[in-house]
Amino acid sequence: MKINTITHIQPQIAKISFGTTGRYYKSENGEEFGTNSWLFRDDVDWERLAKYEKQHFCNKERVNIIQFASSDGSEAYTKIISLLENYPEKNAEKFFPIKAYDIDEEIVNAARSGYINTCLTDRMNLQINSDDYTKYFTDTTQKLNIKDDIKLQNQKTLKASNILRNRVQFERADMFNILANLNDNSDTILMCRNVLGYFENDAVERFVKITANKLKKGSLFIIGEHDTKNTFIDRFLKENHFMRIIKHVYQKL
Ligand SMILES: C[S@@+](CC[C@H](N)C(=O)[O-])C[C@H]1O[C@@H](n2cnc3c(N)ncnc32)[C@H](O)[C@@H]1O
Repeated sequence: MKINTITHIQPQIAKISFGTTGRYYKSENGEEFGTNSWLFRDDVDWERLAKYEKQHFCNKERVNIIQFASSDGSEAYTKIISLLENYPEKNAEKFFPIKAYDIDEEIVNAARSGYINTCLTDRMNLQINSDDYTKYFTDTTQKLNIKDDIKLQNQKTLKASNILRNRVQFERADMFNILANLNDNSDTILMCRNVLGYFENDAVERFVKITANKLKKGSLFIIGEHDTKNTFIDRFLKENHFMRIIKHVYQKL
């Protein structure tokens, strides 16, 4: 199903059963669809990406990570942890704070709370991808209630540490507006993952063309599997002077 704008709804039957968040929306033509997110979503090689970014931007004093469709913060936390954990001899501070935007107010408030709901896979992913994940998340008796979000078996709310919270800013915004005002100096990492896959191909192509005009040589554009599976985005990116350097990671030529 394809949409241009979304409205959040309460699902009749929850079909999503995995991730830190799972939500349902209704498209303009009334179709319901589900979205979810999770820690270390496995459609990108996070370790390889972090090492590439540190090498590729080694001459830059500052690198701007902009994250569209940032959801409950799981992706921002994944990015921060992978940059801190990989290639530690290269300092990661110039990549922070990440500027993270999502259009869903409820999910932005959840991200800002500093708490995150996790399922077993999330907690396993944290252990696999960090030396000591208690640096990043601690157990809590607090419960994060995100209105209309799915509830999973073995769900556990974790509290993000200041190591994470100080390195990301969450804001409610439509990615189209942020993109329109974006100024790049070949020092941008634009993450726009698993959202364009919900749009019609002509809207995706328009979005890619604007992105291609905004991003200068060397900047990165990162998408997800949901996008490549449901649209011709890989073709649109190549037609608009992006080169694929890692699966789902493109560099402006
Ligand atoms: C499937 S989630 C993707 C989350 C994360 N990027 C990932 O890959 O796991 C899609 C998110 O896109 C957000 N979204 C949809 N349209 C948007 C827009 N125009 N601007 C910003 N966020 C949007 C939704 O609110 C939802 O949180």
